[in-house]
Amino acid sequence: VKHLIDTTSLTADDITQILDTARSFSEVNKRAIKKVPALRGRTIVNLFLEPSTRTKSSFELAEKRLSADSLSMGGATSSVVKGESLADTIETIDAMSVDMFICRAKLAGTPHKICEHTDAVVINAGDGKHQHPTQALLDLYTIRENFGHLDGLKVALVGDLSHSRVCGSLVPALKTMGAEVTLVGPPTFQIADPDYFGVPQTSDLDSVIADMDVVYMLRVQLERMEGAAIPSRREYNRLWGLDMSRVDRMRPEAIICHPGPMNRGMEINADVADCARSRILAQVNAGVLVRMAAMYLLLGGENNGVSA
Ligand code: CP
Repeated sequence: VKHLIDTTSLTADDITQILDTARSFSEVNKRAIKKVPALRGRTIVNLFLEPSTRTKSSFELAEKRLSADSLSMGGATSSVVKGESLADTIETIDAMSVDMFICRAKLAGTPHKICEHTDAVVINAGDGKHQHPTQALLDLYTIRENFGHLDGLKVALVGDLSHSRVCGSLVPALKTMGAEVTLVGPPTFQIADPDYFGVPQTSDLDSVIADMDVVYMLRVQLERMEGAAIPSRREYNRLWGLDMSRVDRMRPEAIICHPGPMNRGMEINADVADCARSRILAQVNAGVLVRMAAMYLLLGGENNGVSA
């Protein structure tokens, strides 16, 4: 694997290697001085053309913890606002001898486009409705840390399936790792392809929730509705939101995930987001570890310095 653009090109061995490497970096995360020299002398460019809190900050922290040199560019503060094309932007930065681009973009396919204009490694940090592979990897890491394995787990992804790049990357990754996936969402938010990774879809959350090990709530992507009718908050919450009465019907050991940012009171209630079953902040913590692992492995690090 040269780039990390999607999860469909990752084998179970690839995923296991990334998760195991992330686990080794968890020791770094616990140190008083959270740094290893693993990517000293490497240069990483964070190109965030769409807003981000978790992904951008965790990539930046991961780069610092690996001792890489980095620079962060946003769409609004670059010459993109003067009309410079993506190709010219990438070739300009590439001419400064960088090793890796991390890219978040509104337009699906942008990371592929970047690969055409640089020999540097490219990591997709979320492209439109397409994919968000490091999100899927941090989700797998969080779930595996909780249960000790991924195979055979029953995982429901609930909510706005069709606008979700989290769904697009997590479903194939879960399937590759042997989990059983069920998709739950309003009929208007379901995936149009009836053969989508061979995964069943239903609109009835109450019929499946008691059988799941992981209930993964998806954000309603209000910014991607593109003129479609936006459901009322109250009605959505009544039919597809995770409230305490539904949580009380979950298996005793079952956990709750959400990629963030949350629409509290819509897809997930505030008391549920903060309850003991919630792994939402564990997911955020895993984001730094998994991104350290992905950058380290893709840049060919040989000694991750954890034991140094
Ligand atoms: N989950 C996620 O990608 O969050 P951000 O948009 O804040 O990066």
